[in-house]
Amino acid sequence: MSDASSPLPIARTVEELRRNVRDWRRQGFTVAFVPTMGALHDGHLTLVQEAGRRADRVVASVFVNPTQFAAHEDLGTYPRQEAKDAALLAGAGCALLFAPDAAEMYPDGFTTAISVGGPSQGLETDFRPHFFGAVATVVAKLLNQVQADIAVFGEKDYQQLMVVRRLARDLDIPTEIAGAPTERDGHGLALSSRNAYLSDTDLEVARQLNGVLAEAAAKAADHRPLPAVEREACAALLKAGFDRIDYVAVRRADDLGVFPDAVVDAPARILAAAWIGKTRLIDNLAV
Ligand code: PAF
Repeated sequence: MSDASSPLPIARTVEELRRNVRDWRRQGFTVAFVPTMGALHDGHLTLVQEAGRRADRVVASVFVNPTQFAAHEDLGTYPRQEAKDAALLAGAGCALLFAPDAAEMYPDGFTTAISVGGPSQGLETDFRPHFFGAVATVVAKLLNQVQADIAVFGEKDYQQLMVVRRLARDLDIPTEIAGAPTERDGHGLALSSRNAYLSDTDLEVARQLNGVLAEAAAKAADHRPLPAVEREACAALLKAGFDRIDYVAVRRADDLGVFPDAVVDAPARILAAAWIGKTRLIDNLAV
């Protein structure tokens, strides 16, 4: 099973993965799971460390899931660095890397897909309609494959976290879904594998996203009308050098529903997606 040159055991098949998890269970260990698409950064590693605080053994997966990329998106160029990822995961306390290939995840004849609703509506779905159905299907598979006690997802992908929580609840998947706060660089930029695409000039622009959202969140918390708050934030992002804004939106924090009176009257989250050149960045903050 394990690659002799890897600092970490690597399971390539569901059977190998389950054999490991079964052995741990026999020894009475609890298990946590961190799903990733690799190209790991400190944000992922804090998820692994959080998982390590919550269970005796941590499994991380690295699988660049082809179905969640649309034809025009960056599947072909998405950074891949398995040996480096394995070393980083070992350093963060991970006990096993699950790195299946596409044929293991989607064998010939694979036809089943999960249909999502609720928190998947709007925001990302308005711009990436294929995305959450594909994420829900692969995450359901991964959760079933690992059968961990707890799985840790980053709040950086806040809508994804909400979709996965709803998926686990609706399909009675017995793994607890935990969220962990977004890791940021010293300038407030949310860590993301896609930051690798940014030039130094792009980075300066990207680092303003968090500040613009914080300002808009303060206005929203002050009960300012949300359409104006969102419009002003879009204008501020364009002024900061972003090329295109997909959305800036303030939504209910628990289910991502809209505020019917267009003012914040319950816990809220501000979410945004914006482009610098060909790179799309997302971020969000509590209001
Ligand atoms: O957030 C990600 O990296 C992916 O969407 C996930 C959850 C690993 C599913 O492919």
